[in-house]
Amino acid sequence: MKREITISAPGKLMLLGEHAVVYNRPCIVTAVGQRMRATVELTEKSTFQLNAPDVQIANYQKPMDQLGIGDLPKGAKFVEIAVVNFLRSLLEYSRSDLVKPGVKVSTTSEFSSQFGFGSSSASTVCVIKALSEITEANLNNKEIFDLAYKTVLDIQGKGSGFDAAAATFGGTLYFVTGGKTIEPLNIDSLPLIVGYSGIKADTVTLINQVKEKAGGNPQAVEDIYDNIGKLVEQAKLALLGKDWQSLGELMNENQKLLTKLGVSINKLDDMIAAALKAGAYGAKLSGAGGGDCMIALAPEDKVQAVKDGITSVGGQIIEVETNAEGARIETRD
Ligand code: MEV
Repeated sequence: MKREITISAPGKLMLLGEHAVVYNRPCIVTAVGQRMRATVELTEKSTFQLNAPDVQIANYQKPMDQLGIGDLPKGAKFVEIAVVNFLRSLLEYSRSDLVKPGVKVSTTSEFSSQFGFGSSSASTVCVIKALSEITEANLNNKEIFDLAYKTVLDIQGKGSGFDAAAATFGGTLYFVTGGKTIEPLNIDSLPLIVGYSGIKADTVTLINQVKEKAGGNPQAVEDIYDNIGKLVEQAKLALLGKDWQSLGELMNENQKLLTKLGVSINKLDDMIAAALKAGAYGAKLSGAGGGDCMIALAPEDKVQAVKDGITSVGGQIIEVETNAEGARIETRD
């Protein structure tokens, strides 16, 4: 049996459909070139050990029988609960003999956890795939996704799982809540520009904020979700047909609906307006809103102007490769 393995998984960018996808509507997500890495080792000592410098976790240790118990540090939660869920899944299949007493994990990231690129879900996927490989449990991608999504729900209580799907499968996906549909869209990379607002957003806070709004007028919010769902269907066709003009218009439409949900903020609005003024086909926030990133789709000859526009209002351009490969083995010994 292999003793140590390194797995990488990509970050993600939501293209269209955020928030509505939490409530049984579809979204479109693309995996980005920036990756998360986890090295996992099975050890003789019955201890869980974690080093995750990107989230300020150094030499975190606890006995394996305390795994998932007590107050977990924020930066350790996803990895620790991922290990718990993986071990439980082995028990379910009576394969717990596959695991040595202890597990040691180190994670590193090619992107800041501040961007909203889904570092928590990507590290969750890395750890589950690593454990699956190292124990020869040989989970398939759907099984890895299911355990990663369970981990997200155990910790956050809410979420669609789209980020775990992007980290597992990679590419660009048409995705419905909880993985009811995970359909790879056969496209090349997208002419996408990404601007970071410099403001960290908290997904659960934003989901709760929208839920509160829905409490006041549930039908209005349901109608917004329905409209987002419809434009995602149209966007899927535009994307497959490389009809960037239409896709851009649908992004603008999506942004208007997100504004109605109350999740955009002035900084994102300014960056989006600057991108459109500089000639983008379309622009919108990407993710939960409240900060993180915006995305713009632009013709080749307008790319520089759009980037300049975004920076002129205080945004930071992040170069990304879209449609990146899903979770993969980097090294093993
Ligand atoms: C957050 O990046 C996107 C949301 O739709 C949450 C989710 O889908 O899990 C707001």
